[in-house]
Amino acid sequence: MKARLLAVSAAAVMMFSAGQASADLDLAKASGCLACHSVEKKVVGPAWKDVANKYKGDAGAKAALVEKVKKGGKGNWTEVTGGTPMPPYSPRVSDANIEKLVDFILALK
Ligand code: HEC
Repeated sequence: MKARLLAVSAAAVMMFSAGQASADLDLAKASGCLACHSVEKKVVGPAWKDVANKYKGDAGAKAALVEKVKKGGKGNWTEVTGGTPMPPYSPRVSDANIEKLVDFILALK
């Protein structure tokens, strides 16, 4: 009985985290990011998994990436993109949502 309850709650936790990831992807889609990015593959911009890897363990990465998404810019992925710039998203996307998107990207594995 107890084991069954545990199994049910584990499944609920798993469903919850999958739900969160797809909510973040929906936000990325609604914000227009997926025109140039995907989690797994380079599109116009770098794969978001590669972004997460590049900044793994970098405590300043979140603030720097939030700035980058707000203001746009280029130069960090020239070898991948050929120098295409990332467009600025502030104020089209709210600061809170930009922060959410960067948290989502940095948490990818
Ligand atoms: C028009 C295409 C395009 C769109 C739309 C776009 N990006 Fe980008 N993105 C790029 C390019 C190109 C780069 C590489 C910039 C560079 O070389 O520094 C990039 C880089 C990034 C990086 C890594 C930045 C760095 O300095 O390492 C993040 C994070 C990112 N994009 C998030 C987003 C988010 C979030 C959105 C939606 C709000 C978005 N992008 C929409 C093209 C795009």
